[in-house]
Order: sequence, then structure tokens, then C-alpha cells
Amino acid sequence: MRIAILCILACLTSPDYSDFVSSFTPSPLTQKTRADFPAINTGTVYLDSAASSQKPSFVIDAQSEFDRTTHSNVHRGAHKMSREATRRYEDARSSLAEFINAGSRRELVFTSGATNSLNLIAHSWGIQNLEPGSEVILSIMEHHSSIVPWQLIQQNFCPGIKIKFCPLNSDNSDLDYDELEKMMNANTKVVSIVHTSNTLGITTDTKRIASIKARKAAADSIYIVDGCQSLPHKKVDVKDLNCDFFVASAHKMVGPTGVGLLWGKEGLLDAMPPFMGGGEMIDIVTTTGSTFAELPGKFEAGTPMIGQAIGWGAALKYLESIGGMEEIEKCENNIGTYLYESLQAIDGVTLYGPTNTSKRAALAAFSVENIHVSDIATFLDLEGVAVRAGHHCTQPLHDMLGISHTARASCYFYTTKEDVDIFVEKLKETIDFFRSQESGGADATGDGEGEIDYFA
Ligand SMILES: Cc1ncc(COP(=O)(O)O)c(C=O)c1O
Repeated sequence: MRIAILCILACLTSPDYSDFVSSFTPSPLTQKTRADFPAINTGTVYLDSAASSQKPSFVIDAQSEFDRTTHSNVHRGAHKMSREATRRYEDARSSLAEFINAGSRRELVFTSGATNSLNLIAHSWGIQNLEPGSEVILSIMEHHSSIVPWQLIQQNFCPGIKIKFCPLNSDNSDLDYDELEKMMNANTKVVSIVHTSNTLGITTDTKRIASIKARKAAADSIYIVDGCQSLPHKKVDVKDLNCDFFVASAHKMVGPTGVGLLWGKEGLLDAMPPFMGGGEMIDIVTTTGSTFAELPGKFEAGTPMIGQAIGWGAALKYLESIGGMEEIEKCENNIGTYLYESLQAIDGVTLYGPTNTSKRAALAAFSVENIHVSDIATFLDLEGVAVRAGHHCTQPLHDMLGISHTARASCYFYTTKEDVDIFVEKLKETIDFFRSQESGGADATGDGEGEIDYFA
């Protein structure tokens, strides 16, 4: 009762939503596709798609149909089922190569996810090419999976390398490209910068980064783009990005968990040693040594994630069938703007990243004055609203922002206006509840005491 009264009061006193919010028109794409996603049609308001998206029945069915009718190992069986499994697995590779406009299927390596892809590059390319004095340039907003592999290389193989972090501009709305230019020099061997930040929603200018690298870095340097938060949401053409390597994960783009991609320029991949040894990645094995398979097999040791790759192929088909990536991007910009502007209207909420909503991905990291975000996420969960709270695997970014954690609400094309409205209403109720408590929340100080353990 007390909460309800406080809520009504809060609604009466909170500022009006902007014009955009009051005139919001739902996207036909959301209306058309929402029913395809069984897990979010059970009552949960799912605003955690940046961590992992939901899957449509089409993808779930494709994967389970494979398991029910055709499951078998690939590349090694003489029998019919194995041949069919191999055909479907390789078809998924072809679809993915086409989806990102790779030069050839040889450039497309299936991995267990983007994290695996980034470790592969660091261990294979890094150990072979880095030497004392070499510099690795990352941005301060990188996901841990772009940072830790290079730290492991530094600790275990090349202690003489330097890892440098490019800052953001003064209002944290973009990468500081001038600073990036100043940081690069003839020792710069690796530039690894996220395409779209999973915390701030910033999308970096890959052509600009590639052009700075071409002018300033070592001639044999590489540029890696982490596309985990871009490939699911917009058209990506790896040739147009001007990078050397591109990584992403299926589970953030309506596909299965456990499968990701590494795209690399063929010449670079050809020159790199294998990352892991085992079956499938070899040509000839003797007691004294081994030779290796052609690309991409050289990097796919052991039994791959067959059903998951086939499920990813189905996910790509689904994304094309609903209108393609340009339509998805437009739809997400609409709901992302609605989310951002709705949050902006709540008293005490601080949002991070660009204020220009046309430049933001459809996610919003935020904190609330004097209330720990873990408390917020827990209360929202009790009300059936799923958001993430934690550092989102971007601890250096949070350190730079001067906060230990943020809450993050993230949308996909299936996110409805009602999802955002319920979230905003429940968030206001939560804030009002904590404001009504004299001593604040369980950990209103943000010192981490009593918080839940969060990952990505
Ligand atoms: C920007 C970014 N990079 C890398 C990753 C790691 O992806 P995965 O856990 O699928 O390997 C994530 C996942 O949250 C991400 O958002």
C-alpha cells in the first residue's frame, strides 16, 4: 500500500516524457516477430538481450530437428548421416561467410564463442609476432575477453610487451580518436577495439581506426574488431570495416550458445600456427611431429559444435526472413531511443554513454543515486523484469567512470513498448521504496557488500 501511494505520488511529480516518448510508434517488425519467441511470451519482461538474446522457435526447432534426425560427427564418417551432418555444418559456414561478406569460407573459423576467438588470436598470432617492446592498444571500454588474453600473453609468453588503453572523449560519448592517434607508433603491433560497447552503446568508427593504424602503427600490425554487440544489430561487412580480424557469438543474435566465429584475412590465418591440437586440425601425425589441415580446419581441433553451428545457420535465415539487418537496426533504434528517453525522465537516474540516441545501441547502462544497482536488479526481478547489474565484464571502464557497477537494460527487435513501460514503472516503484527507507538499501553505498556475483 505504502509503495503504491508513493508510486502514484512519484508518477504525479516525475517530469514529463519527451516528445519522442509520448509520440512513440511501435515498429511493425516487433509486432510481427514477438510471438516467435516462446521464452519471452511467458510473462517475463526480458531486457537482457545484450548478455544473450532469446531464440525463436524456428532456431530451436532447426537445432532439435538435426539432433532428432541427423546427429552424427562431421568430416570423418563414411556413412550417410555423417555426410549429411557435414553438409549442414558446412552450409552453416557458407551462410555465415555470406552474411558478413567474407572473401571465402576458408576465412571463417567456427569457435566456441567470441571469447574463444579472441584467445585464439592472442595465442596464435600474438606469440608468433610479439616481441619485447611491442605494444597492444585496446580501448578502455573493452570487454574483459579482449583484455585478459593479452594480459595472459604478457604474463606467460612475452613479458616485454606493453598494453595501453585508449580513453574516451570528455563526455564519454565516443572513443578519443586524437588520443588513439597519439598512442600509436612504430611499435604498435595490435589494435583491438570493440565495434559496439556492451556497456555504453558507443559504436566505433572502424574505418577511422584502420586509417590511423595504417599511418601510425607497424606495417605488420593487426586490427581486431569485437563484433559481439554489432553483428546482431546491424549489417556488417567485414571487408568494409577495414579490419584484419572480426569476432562474434551466435547466442547474442537469436542463435545457440556454444558457437562463435573468427573471421580473419586469409593470408594472416594461413601464416598463423594452430591454437589447439587434436583431431580434425591435422594433415599427417607421426610420432615425431604433425602437419596441419588447410584453413579453416587448422583452427577447429576436435569435434566441433555441430548442432549449434547448424542452429546459427537457421538464425541467419530467420534474421533475413523477417526483413534483414537494415530493418532490424531501424527497429532497434526506435525502441532504444524510447528506452533511453524514458530512463532520462526518471529523477535520480544517471545514464552513461552518448546522449545522442541516433548514435547509441539499444541498451542503457545506468545507476541510481544512493541505491546499489544489485538491489535494483533484485527488486526488478521480483517484479518479473530481467535486467543486468554488475560491471558487465568492463571493469576498467567502470573504474574510469568512477563507479563499481551499473544496471543495464538492453533491447532487441522483439522488445515491445510495454516491456519498457513495465520496466520503467517497476524501476520507479523500486526507487520510491528505497527512498522511503530511512537507512537506504542493503548496500546503498555501492561498496559491493551483499551483492550478487555477476558475470558478462
Ligand atoms: C562486447 C563483447 N565482447 C565479447 C563478449 C564475450 O562474448 P562470449 O561470452 O559470447 O564469448 C561479450 C559478451 O557479453 C560482449 O558483449
